[in-house]
Amino acid sequence: MSTKQKLLKILEENRATYLSGEMLASTLNVSRSAIWKAIKGLKEEGYEIASTTNKGYRLKSESDLMSVEGITPWLSQNNQALELLVYKTLGSTNQEAKKLALEGAKTKTVIISEEQTKGRGRMGRLFYSPPKSGIYLSLVLRPDVAAQDAVLLTTGAAVGVCRAIKKVTGIDTQIKWVNDIYLGERKIVGILTEAVTNFENGQFEFVIIGIGVNFKMPETALPKELEDIVGALFVEKPDALTRNRLAAEIINEVLKICEDLTNRDFLAEYKTQSMVLGKQIKVFRNNDWEVATAIDISNDGGLIIKNNKGIIETLSSGEISI
Ligand code: BTN
Repeated sequence: MSTKQKLLKILEENRATYLSGEMLASTLNVSRSAIWKAIKGLKEEGYEIASTTNKGYRLKSESDLMSVEGITPWLSQNNQALELLVYKTLGSTNQEAKKLALEGAKTKTVIISEEQTKGRGRMGRLFYSPPKSGIYLSLVLRPDVAAQDAVLLTTGAAVGVCRAIKKVTGIDTQIKWVNDIYLGERKIVGILTEAVTNFENGQFEFVIIGIGVNFKMPETALPKELEDIVGALFVEKPDALTRNRLAAEIINEVLKICEDLTNRDFLAEYKTQSMVLGKQIKVFRNNDWEVATAIDISNDGGLIIKNNKGIIETLSSGEISI
């Protein structure tokens, strides 16, 4: 780790406190001028650092760049060894994760990007991913489950994200089957699970769970077509919370569920947070919207509906609207 990275780690771990140049130099066992140079480098990268002659340096509360150093202190003990890669820009974190998985990346590799230029959404749509406002992350997993359990991974990821949001912000969110997360009437999180299956044994080779969180409203206006649909957790970044903190908790909570799908207790939480159960919905199939009632969630994460002919069926994938 370079002096600059070590310094960033200390500043991230002590956000609220000024740290003197002298103390930093002795902790990192370098000269005061090496500290000054590293601070300058961090500022050039976009970190907002307050400095006063008497007190020293601290990250300003509004400074919110995603980094390995900012995320790692918040990862649980179990996840300290995971492979975490943070990029300034990528086409799509899912695409990068898939490439790395094909090259042999180990389970629990996490790819994060400050922005995505071709963020992938469900149904071939694009996921709007501007810089400085969202969390765009993909997890590579090599789970020991059959390919037909894909929907469980997806529902599990949705519950993990809701838990993480509740834990670090206190905010209650709702899930629209399969895995869109809403705050009020606006979508604030999208999840795209992609998998490569071994045809011989029907098991997953690997799975990519891609999660896009609208943390705060972007600085530039939303594209017209998203204006009435998309929201964010916050209008402005709250002083005491960073995207790094929430990203770490999402990793912790999603892995807790998705690493052991034999425990399906999370489905009870999924049901409590569902915004469709008991409601009339529309199901998109055969190029048309059919009216149905959402009745329950199956033990495999499927949506149990009563269709317009009164027949009960379970959907394991697809698109619904309320
Ligand atoms: C959807 O709502 O349609 C799913 C959106 C999923 C977006 C995330 S952002 C991180 C990851 N990388 C991608 O390219 N897509 C997912």
